[in-house]
Amino acid sequence: MPYYRAAGEIPRKRHVRFRGPAGNFYAEELMGEEGFVSDSSLLYHQHPPTAIVKSEGLSDSAAHAPLLPNHPLLPRHFRTQDLPAGGDLVLGRQLMMANDDVRISFAAADADSELYRNSAGDEAVYLRSGSATFESVYGVIEARAGDYVIVPRGTIHRWRPAGGGLHALVVEARGHIRPPRRYLSQFGQFLEHAPYCERDLRGAAGPLLADGEDVPVIVRTSAGLTRLTYAYHPFDVVGWDGYLYPYAFNIADFEPIVKRTHAPPPVHQTFEGPNFVICSFCPRPLDFDPEAVPIPYNHHNVDSDEMMYYVAGDYSARKGSGVGLGSITLHPSGFTHGPQPGAVEAVIEGVAAGKTTTDETAVMIDTFRPLLLAGGARSAEDPEYAWSWTKAARGNVSSESADLGPGF
Ligand SMILES: [Fe+2]
Repeated sequence: MPYYRAAGEIPRKRHVRFRGPAGNFYAEELMGEEGFVSDSSLLYHQHPPTAIVKSEGLSDSAAHAPLLPNHPLLPRHFRTQDLPAGGDLVLGRQLMMANDDVRISFAAADADSELYRNSAGDEAVYLRSGSATFESVYGVIEARAGDYVIVPRGTIHRWRPAGGGLHALVVEARGHIRPPRRYLSQFGQFLEHAPYCERDLRGAAGPLLADGEDVPVIVRTSAGLTRLTYAYHPFDVVGWDGYLYPYAFNIADFEPIVKRTHAPPPVHQTFEGPNFVICSFCPRPLDFDPEAVPIPYNHHNVDSDEMMYYVAGDYSARKGSGVGLGSITLHPSGFTHGPQPGAVEAVIEGVAAGKTTTDETAVMIDTFRPLLLAGGARSAEDPEYAWSWTKAARGNVSSESADLGPGF
């Protein structure tokens, strides 16, 4: 994280004697990245954070489910709207696609999760709908629709959805998820050209204390899931300070950057992870040159697979494609994608009639290695999507092949 926060009680200096009201020493814990030479926080526990009483391996069907290559190559459309709802935001994840850098899941959660720690990498959880209380060793964040909640590797936390449940996209990285380096000064301050800044990031309100003994925590590692039982409740931190903590950023606080003619997705970049980026497409003025074509041009990013999650608004560039709110598309390297035929004419007519803004909101993840497809995706695929551009251009597809590959 790019800046310093403190919460609760902390001692005057690092690594000095710090006692509670009964005279007992608090247990100091460093949570740090990259082996003492990157961002870290110091947490002060009422009990030893090392005391465990049991360790059990858990079956993790998602981790071991087959991942199939996108073969034969196709653009894909998955309707998360059609996936089953229920469960919690940790064990109820329905894996959609993955590679060695990132795993992308959908969850329609309505139950509290167990305590959970991802020790394989950071997570970014995007809430498309609903709200939840995010409880962690750093304190509580009230998360609402449109929030990205960034959870650093190793943070013990749990998700408590509000009544009515929530829909979320969960991004599990094999490393750290951070604001793009180019948005930050040499020392980590958000620069003036960045589309968001420190004031837009919401940290935990303060320490969260809970009593309990023999408390289970699900730990994700690259080997799978373990249930570790702690002797004391992990929510026993009386204070912490540092640069490493979970935080929320709402997509409505992203300040879009516009040009006279169409700007490419790097202006929408929100976070970066190892070998992937996360971008936010937000409501904004349409490109305003009198000759502008104010929707995307056809494009082929030869080094990327592009996943798009359509979260709000009206997608004029995709009319007739079957894509709706909650849809996920995958446009892989090897395939040129762009607006549906007829969309350019339609948006230019709209501009002539006085339309000046777009209300579309989407979350995009570009990966620099191909994404493999998982079971969640398979059960929600729209088999007609790949031919939608041809149908719009020609009115039919004369050699339609619905061969979606093995398992589809
Ligand atoms: Fe694209």
